[in-house]
Amino acid sequence: MKKLIIVIFGASGDLTKRKLMPALYSLYFTKRLQGNFSILGASRSNYSDDAFRSYIDNELHNFLPTKMQDKELIEQFIGHLHYHTMDPAVEEQYKGLDECIMKLGGSGFDGNILFYLSTPPVLYGVIPLHLQSVGLNTKASRIIIEKPFGYDLESALSLNKIYEGVFDEHQIYRIDHFLGKETAQNLLAFRFANGIFEPLWNRNYIDYIEVTAVENLGIGDRGGFYDHVGALRDMVQNHLIQLVALTAMEPPAIFNADTFRNEIVKVYDSLKPLVEIDFEDHIVRGQYTQSYYKKGYREEKGIPEDSRTETFVAMRLEIANWRWSGVPFYIRTGKQMPTKATEIVVHFKETPHKMFHCKEGNCPKANKLTLRLQPNEGIVLGLGLKIPGAGFEIKNVTMSFDYNQLGGIPMGDAYARLIDDCIQHDPTLFTRSDAVEASWRFFGPILEYWKAHPEAPLYGYPAGTWGPLESEGMMRYHHAEWSNPCKNLTDTDKYCEL
Ligand SMILES: NC(=O)c1ccc[n+]([C@@H]2O[C@H](COP(=O)([O-])OP(=O)(O)OC[C@H]3O[C@@H](n4cnc5c(N)ncnc54)[C@H](OP(=O)(O)O)[C@@H]3O)[C@@H](O)[C@H]2O)c1
Repeated sequence: MKKLIIVIFGASGDLTKRKLMPALYSLYFTKRLQGNFSILGASRSNYSDDAFRSYIDNELHNFLPTKMQDKELIEQFIGHLHYHTMDPAVEEQYKGLDECIMKLGGSGFDGNILFYLSTPPVLYGVIPLHLQSVGLNTKASRIIIEKPFGYDLESALSLNKIYEGVFDEHQIYRIDHFLGKETAQNLLAFRFANGIFEPLWNRNYIDYIEVTAVENLGIGDRGGFYDHVGALRDMVQNHLIQLVALTAMEPPAIFNADTFRNEIVKVYDSLKPLVEIDFEDHIVRGQYTQSYYKKGYREEKGIPEDSRTETFVAMRLEIANWRWSGVPFYIRTGKQMPTKATEIVVHFKETPHKMFHCKEGNCPKANKLTLRLQPNEGIVLGLGLKIPGAGFEIKNVTMSFDYNQLGGIPMGDAYARLIDDCIQHDPTLFTRSDAVEASWRFFGPILEYWKAHPEAPLYGYPAGTWGPLESEGMMRYHHAEWSNPCKNLTDTDKYCEL
């Protein structure tokens, strides 16, 4: 087997210990990664190989699920780790990196290197150029770049230009871990491997669609980073819009990296641009405030007391094409919400005629299909059925499916899936340059507007609530409302609405 070297820049950081090493180990555990490979950590912190191995060993015990904690296997995996102390910002230090890689590669090494950029984003523009300066951008290499890829359209364009000057597009893997989730991929299978939903999947039968990705934590220690980014950059322009695209895209004629990503870009290009006059009724931005048991955003470490960074965004999007014309897509994300959940809810239109008399509370509701990406990954379909006994009273019930029941195979980790794809040279689930640019083209004007108009509304919401009431108001004109995911849900049979 050809030697593979995985180089992680920023290997002393949080992402490496919490996600990347557990993901690489899980590939080793499942024998997706085996044989002739080395993992080389590269950052400024001073570790010997042994010290790095012992650090990662400890962290793996903290972050691996119990079922994967196999002491012997962890020891074998750790034996593949190496460390090179360097500052990835300094070009002169790449000669040493090159020597270290060549030594690990041994004779006959063909440059099969996977670079993982897990550093602060300010280094994303310089690392590829420094790699090129010592010829490490080999034909067989690939590079994974963490989010955020760019800060706005201009910076994304300039990053794309740098990367395209150093690597071919098929070597560039802009990661969005949402696409690595089984449930995101299953959305495609659900839509395109079943004949019954696709005929309904359009403006004739669907009333509106919600996409929610919320969490119940604040910004923790990441204040310095978050205050410059905000919810729109952190979640909406990458993750939420990907989910909108998976929900709205056309089926490609054949499924491969190019055809799939072409369809994603077509969705982005069809987003009806928002002009300033639309902003107030299409976008609600919010910031969490102190509640009786939680800090407000402005009380968090590293946050200026007059910060106007949004921690919540709700938006109404329209996709201007034949399939979706007139169907609003309501999307929202927020920190310090009552729960952590990601889900897509498809609201079908009501029956055209109501023939059953109904009592309050037992009237047929429009069908609702919930695709839960986390937690309790699964699908729930709301149906109206007759209550046994005389008359025709209708009860709204749910039919639910839990992904964990699928053949008893545990849900894979998103990072493991994506790193594995990259090792196998499959960029399908990574973001292509034109998609990044199309997304920034749509969201950039909103950020520019907020920058130019700091007085534009920013609504407070008490930490631990579902966001500003204005986000409910935004949907009311359409007689729509948010379906708030259940808190602490563990049993799918108890699926409920709050
Ligand atoms: N953490 C997450 O859950 C998460 C999730 C999604 C995306 N991301 C993205 O993934 C990347 C890595 O995340 P992270 O949380 O691991 O970041 P981090 O802990 O802030 O940084 C990773 C490492 O980069 C090195 N570094 C920091 N500043 C540097 C500088 N100015 N010059 C050279 N090296 C520097 C540090 O190592 P040394 O001091 O040893 O050099 C640090 O340990 C970030 O871009 C982040 O946006 C992270």
